[in-house]
Amino acid sequence: MSTATQLPERVKIVDVSPRDGLQNEKQLVSVTDKVSLIHRLARAGLPNIEAVSFVSPKWVPQMADGLAVMQAVERTPGIIYSALTPNMRGYESAREAGMDEVVIFGAASEGFSQKNINCSIAESIERFRPVAQAALADGIRLRGSISCCLGCPYEGAVDPSRVLDVVDRMMDLGCVEIDIADTIGVGTAHQVKTVYEWIFRRYERERFSGHFHDTYGQAIANIVAALESGVAIFHGSVAGLGGCPYARGATGNVATEDIVFLMHGLGITTGIDLTLLAEAGEAISRVLGRPNASRAGRAWLARQAATHSAQ
Ligand code: HMG
Ligand code: MG
Repeated sequence: MSTATQLPERVKIVDVSPRDGLQNEKQLVSVTDKVSLIHRLARAGLPNIEAVSFVSPKWVPQMADGLAVMQAVERTPGIIYSALTPNMRGYESAREAGMDEVVIFGAASEGFSQKNINCSIAESIERFRPVAQAALADGIRLRGSISCCLGCPYEGAVDPSRVLDVVDRMMDLGCVEIDIADTIGVGTAHQVKTVYEWIFRRYERERFSGHFHDTYGQAIANIVAALESGVAIFHGSVAGLGGCPYARGATGNVATEDIVFLMHGLGITTGIDLTLLAEAGEAISRVLGRPNASRAGRAWLARQAATHSAQ
């Protein structure tokens, strides 16, 4: 990629539905259904699947079976299977589960850090330090995720300088990739460009992703803004599943199907089969007993069905 305004030829898409998508579900989703979702995502061609988190089961009961899920997953070589790990306890479980990548997750706002992981930003970095050291020593990929980069449910606006401050600290810990997350989906395109401009004055674009939630319907516009800023890694969740238990009112992540439809329409390669992906979205929506929230997924499958019945 030569300039920031030139779009990338290829993007990496990370599907976070087994973790971010399901963590907020009140009804318990079985290990079998979680594993089936992960297998379907793998078959659709996702290069990176955020499969589980190893957090306190008192805080997020839905994720309590992470080890059982990973033991039952038949791994596809080349796919990065990731887990969220807030502390050494979580890291030990991730290592036992044979994760390819661990994710330390902080926030750009003090209010959200306290509510989500029960400590200040500075304290969270100290908890992440041994996790980062262990991951580097064990050769496990280390990713950082920063919540509330475009707005906080407790503090409102978040200045880009605060995002950059957490980026600096996560880079110091050795993260190879960092997610810029709009946890409550309030950001708009100009804001997205501004935050990446701040970051890219100091760091290479290739190391940053966009993790957008679609609460206000801005996620696809924000992804285009991020693409134009030079970002080439995006997170999505099939069927638009998700939300964070500590960000009341925030809806799901942008649907992975919507991102893939956008990218293919722009002539950007993803390596993902949209039909298999949309079928994965339909299947998990049926399990949860709710309509599929991906508009691209629904429209794509309807078009396929119409084409078949016309043949
Ligand atoms: P704490 O209460 O401050 O810590 O929680 P603690 O060390 O006192 O532990 C409390 C209890 O949890 C103890 O059990 C620990 O053993 C246990 P007890 O003695 O009471 O029986 N515990 C654990 N159990 C299993 N695995 C662990 C673990 N750690 C402690 N790893 C803690 C601090 C961080 C653990 C807690 O606040 C927590 O688990 N928070 C989870 C928050 C979470 O998962 N949020 C959702 C994910 S973040 C997100 O969705 C945003 C993101 O998608 C990006 C975006 O959109 O912004 C990433
Ligand atoms: Mg999220």
